[in-house]
Amino acid sequence: MTSGAAGAPPGGLPVLPPVFNLIALDSVGSTNDEARRLAEEGAAHGTIVWAGEQTTGRGRQGRSWTSPRGNLYLSLVLRPECALSEAAQVSFVACVALGEAVAALAGKQVVVTYKWPNDVMFNAKKGAGVLLESKSTPAGGLDWLILGMGTNIEHFPDDARYPASSLRKEGADTTLVPAILLEELARQLDIWLEIWRNRGFRDIRAAWKERAQGLGKPIEVRLPKETLTGVFGDLDGDGALLLKNADGGTRTITAGDVFPGA
Ligand code: BTN
Repeated sequence: MTSGAAGAPPGGLPVLPPVFNLIALDSVGSTNDEARRLAEEGAAHGTIVWAGEQTTGRGRQGRSWTSPRGNLYLSLVLRPECALSEAAQVSFVACVALGEAVAALAGKQVVVTYKWPNDVMFNAKKGAGVLLESKSTPAGGLDWLILGMGTNIEHFPDDARYPASSLRKEGADTTLVPAILLEELARQLDIWLEIWRNRGFRDIRAAWKERAQGLGKPIEVRLPKETLTGVFGDLDGDGALLLKNADGGTRTITAGDVFPGA
């Protein structure tokens, strides 16, 4: 089912796998807020809120996400049958799905990598981000999960903490517009969410590591109160970054900003 219109191509609204129910909006504050509102009203697993622009788009750690028309902004309502502790794995599923979609559509000039934890890079610059929000049930289970994804197609911020870019800047063809990317992304999300459901995080972790930025190399991890240096040793079975220290020890990092090290 589809409703509304958000920068749809002349041929009509995108056609998505049947598991998804598309709500297309021209403009909204934040698709995550709208998806959250719908989830609270009982929206089904697979509901996608897509907007042509956001006026109060949100990024991780309370940052804002500038959202002019021309990029892709969507939030997917999920009600997966998993433990609350496993929910964060979905953001790696999302990165892999988006990476595959961009690799399929953008051509060889855009090299896709993943920056821990949840960024998709275009030629080593940030091109997309994931914002995952959840609500637990009183019994400690998972009620809903909102998977928000923003992808720079036409525009990118020039004041970002990390160098950013867009698909257009990196040379993607002008036929790659939000509705086309949404179609391929939904197809890939369907595939990778099924892989996760049936085979667990192992296959997602392997796919993520294939395009991981900085794996095996020196990195700097900025935490709120300290900056750590070491080598990006591995991604563990829960999605945490394993940082190898100079003294041979390993520190498990569950949140932080990663930069290339010296
Ligand atoms: C990040 O900080 O890298 C995550 C950015 C997530 C932005 C997307 S755009 C669609 C959805 N709605 C929001 O308000 N945020 C997410």
